[in-house]
Amino acid sequence: MRSPVVVAAREGRCDEEGFSGDWGEGESQGTVSRCPGSPGPGSALITSLAQLNLNTTDLVTLSSGHTIGIGHCTSFDSRLFPSQDPTLNPPFAKNLYLTCPVKNTTNTTVNDIRTPNLFDNKYYVDLLNREGLFTSDQGLYGDSRTKPIVTSFAGDQALFFQNFVYSMTKMGQLSVLTGNKGQILRNCSAINPSDNHFLATNVDADESKLF
Ligand code: HEM
Repeated sequence: MRSPVVVAAREGRCDEEGFSGDWGEGESQGTVSRCPGSPGPGSALITSLAQLNLNTTDLVTLSSGHTIGIGHCTSFDSRLFPSQDPTLNPPFAKNLYLTCPVKNTTNTTVNDIRTPNLFDNKYYVDLLNREGLFTSDQGLYGDSRTKPIVTSFAGDQALFFQNFVYSMTKMGQLSVLTGNKGQILRNCSAINPSDNHFLATNVDADESKLF
């Protein structure tokens, strides 16, 4: 998904050097030079999403994108090497070492160990058990601003679904490109072929299926 929020969230990094984000595809459009007094990567995410008018509830809600799908070792092996992230549940970490025995392998594992193929609230239950895969996932339970939201979603799937509809709609309204400034991807992971490059609206997309 290439929405501004996911790009911001996925590309943002917070380390000893501070937080920096690459907001374009290879094209550096903006950086935030320091983590704002950060207890962890959560602060950098909260700051970068706030710039998009997304609040901490939106951050927790949208992170549920990780309730399905897989993660590559390279996306989380900094939690294993050179030393084990203390926020990892030890038996969970042990299994991650089986998947990623050394740094930079091309192996993958599921994002949500409880229900890897279901869109549900178990992602939040994982976090309560310190079994979130990415630093950004587990960080949601380590930050006092987001922890209560994680806990409430873990205990109430209907509440999570309700917030998901709201936050996804909000995110969908960010930086909408109209006319031929943008395109609706027919395949989420590739730009459209040049013959239907200018599909600009859902109506266009539907009509194109007729031919
Ligand atoms: C605020 C919401 C989100 C945050 C903070 C977030 C954060 C992250 C982070 C930090 C990574 C690891 C990137 C890396 O280090 O390489 C990642 C990977 C990923 N995220 Fe998200 N994400 C969010 C929402 C979503 C959503 C909504 C989806 C999909 C619907 C999604 C799908 C993915 C996928 C497919 C990966 C790649 C995993 C891999 O191949 O290793 N994310 N995300």
